[in-house]
Amino acid sequence: MNKVTIIGLGYVGLSLAAFLGTKTNVVGVDSNSERISILERGKSYFYEPKLEYYLKKSMNRGLKFEHEVSSNILSSDFVFVTVGTPINNDKIDLRNIKNVIQEISELLSNVKQCPSIVIKSTVIPGTTDQIIKPILSEYGLKEYIDFNLLTNPEFLKEGSAMHDTVFPHVIVIGGSNEKPIKKLVNFYNYVYPKKQKIIQTNNITAEVIKYANNSFLATKLSFINSIANLCQRLPGTNVDKIAEVIGMDPRIGNQFLRAGPGYGGSCFPKDVQALISFANSVGYKPDLLDAVKRTNLDQITSVLNLIKNNLKTLEGKKITILGSAFKENTDDIRESTSIVLINTLLRHGCRIIVHDPKALKNTYSIFKNRVSYTERLTEGLRNSNCAVIMTPWDEYKKLGEKDFLLMKSPIVIDTRRILKIKSKKIKYTGLGIGE
Ligand code: UGA
Repeated sequence: MNKVTIIGLGYVGLSLAAFLGTKTNVVGVDSNSERISILERGKSYFYEPKLEYYLKKSMNRGLKFEHEVSSNILSSDFVFVTVGTPINNDKIDLRNIKNVIQEISELLSNVKQCPSIVIKSTVIPGTTDQIIKPILSEYGLKEYIDFNLLTNPEFLKEGSAMHDTVFPHVIVIGGSNEKPIKKLVNFYNYVYPKKQKIIQTNNITAEVIKYANNSFLATKLSFINSIANLCQRLPGTNVDKIAEVIGMDPRIGNQFLRAGPGYGGSCFPKDVQALISFANSVGYKPDLLDAVKRTNLDQITSVLNLIKNNLKTLEGKKITILGSAFKENTDDIRESTSIVLINTLLRHGCRIIVHDPKALKNTYSIFKNRVSYTERLTEGLRNSNCAVIMTPWDEYKKLGEKDFLLMKSPIVIDTRRILKIKSKKIKYTGLGIGE
């Protein structure tokens, strides 16, 4: 039975711990002791479907949590590093990962063990070979004798993190030697009884794959959002029909073509920016990625214009924001375009009431008493001048005429086109539907 340590219990690390813990011996480490005490009670500190189910299952099987990197890692076969790599002044901030590698190095320098350190955090190309490996070497540790170093980028999405962990579409393993790569391949073959698509490559290629993957998806979104903005000006068109048909072309594919208020979250904005900065640093100006980023930043203006066109003046208007999470099935509001929109509307003197099935607590931590909050949809709509659907939560799809007729003026801006409103009493505008 393999022993596994997972350092950094965010979406990636915790989902991995909750899944691997059902198969093998796992210790999860996170420096935030408050989080650890929540996890020790079998609870997650963020909302993610099915996560607590897997957590409990794994804990019954022996999954443990610690708040610091300890000697446990010495006897681990695999040490997965899943700490955050945020962005700071447009550049990736590697402090967390460097600290963790130093802690691991210190522990390893006193013993004769050879765990495989597996970098799962998203890091800019070259980080594993040019930054991480040298730290281990500084401690006198030798690759293949005292440690193995592998790259294994993660592709899970928030909101379906457990599903994506249990059913990955691909597993990418980067490394510089066949033997340790094989060891991780064997481990995954044991963990996933069904044969997986496992791609073996070198570290830098694995690192580029992760950025290329996210940047391509972001490009698809900025592309379809541009088409949506065009459709908006073309009566008789609906971006969803266009997305549906171009998505039938297998060279394009039908996913990630849902136009909306712009992509948010802790990954796409950060990763597109990190890749732009990295490309610049090696002497290449990636014009396409610059345009992807700019198009995304501008998309919230398209939403604002739809509100303005309908309301004429914004000052003093009561606006209901339906959804503050950056996507459905999560309570995460990081880089949520909804937050950007609320800030903009507040600057225009609007009164805001926010509804979100899961993210109200996080939203409160940003706006405090500057906006109102409601857990009841009808409460949110009552006497409102305009409702803006920002997050495609399932419960918003069930909203009907009678709910919107509670509003002072039933104006609905649907940035995700999840509603089918026929009634003439409601002024419905879908982003990407030409009027
Ligand atoms: C993204 C990638 O999809 C994952 O593969 C990757 O592992 C992850 O980043 C990461 O690097 O950690 P995530 O940001 O969790 O996952 O969620 P997505 O489902 O990709 O959504 C990102 C944003 O795009 C959201 O704001 C979402 O509303 C928006 N989106 C997505 C659309 O507007 N339309 C779509 O068709 C799909």
